[in-house]
Amino acid sequence: MQKQVSNFHLQVLETEEEVGKAAADFVAAQVRQKPESVLLLPTGRTPLDMYRNLVEMVKSGNLDLHYVHTFNLDEFCGLSSDHPGSYAQYMREALFDHVAIPEDHTHILNCATPDPKAEAALYDAAMHALGGVDLAVLGIGVNGHIGFNEPGSSFSSGTRVVPIREETREANAFLFDGIIDEVPKEAMTVGIATIMESRQILLLATGESKADVVYGMIYGPVTPELPASILQKHPDVTVILDREAASKLPQVK
Ligand code: F6R
Repeated sequence: MQKQVSNFHLQVLETEEEVGKAAADFVAAQVRQKPESVLLLPTGRTPLDMYRNLVEMVKSGNLDLHYVHTFNLDEFCGLSSDHPGSYAQYMREALFDHVAIPEDHTHILNCATPDPKAEAALYDAAMHALGGVDLAVLGIGVNGHIGFNEPGSSFSSGTRVVPIREETREANAFLFDGIIDEVPKEAMTVGIATIMESRQILLLATGESKADVVYGMIYGPVTPELPASILQKHPDVTVILDREAASKLPQVK
């Protein structure tokens, strides 16, 4: 089912596997149309199926990712890039170890630098130097965050170091053998203004725990208290949901 709901192109599928497949098809279509696409990419549970499908497409010769440039949305502070809980490690396992993207085309934020502000500015500058982001793929936190832009983040924020809220640390504990105390308390994230500059946005959400924030993102007020609500102001956002994440939407009930 594909619908237009305010500015959102909304697609509701039965299962999270179908969401992963549809998301991979969406990214693949972008890359086929522009092989040197600049992609802003998420980690977390939601996009795992998307990455699995992209890897399959590449392995079966249906997709070439050789020319893309990738920027990750965020990374924990205080972990080395080879720590099993780091998003750098996540990306290697989910995508980079399996497909031929030149290493210098992949970008992940690095908090472990004497000057995080300079690192953040360089990251944004690198995206601009490549002509800006063609497609940002986003998940959404149970509190409505995008990237690690937690509730209260300014809509004009750029890339920066941010505190991670408790509910977000809990949601990330799966990367740390379920031990919440090991989840870092700070991260570096691409800012909301940077995300909004992307030419196209694809947001994915699965599971009942996302149903309230998905409703708020689409129908609620545009407020920093639900950072994803700013997407109501973007001209080209596609939202792909499974039935559970869509369960609070009036058109779907
Ligand atoms: C991670 C990111 C976060 C996640 C969000 C949802 O790179 O940007 O905003 O997308 O926390 O995470 P999952 O998919 O684990 O529910």
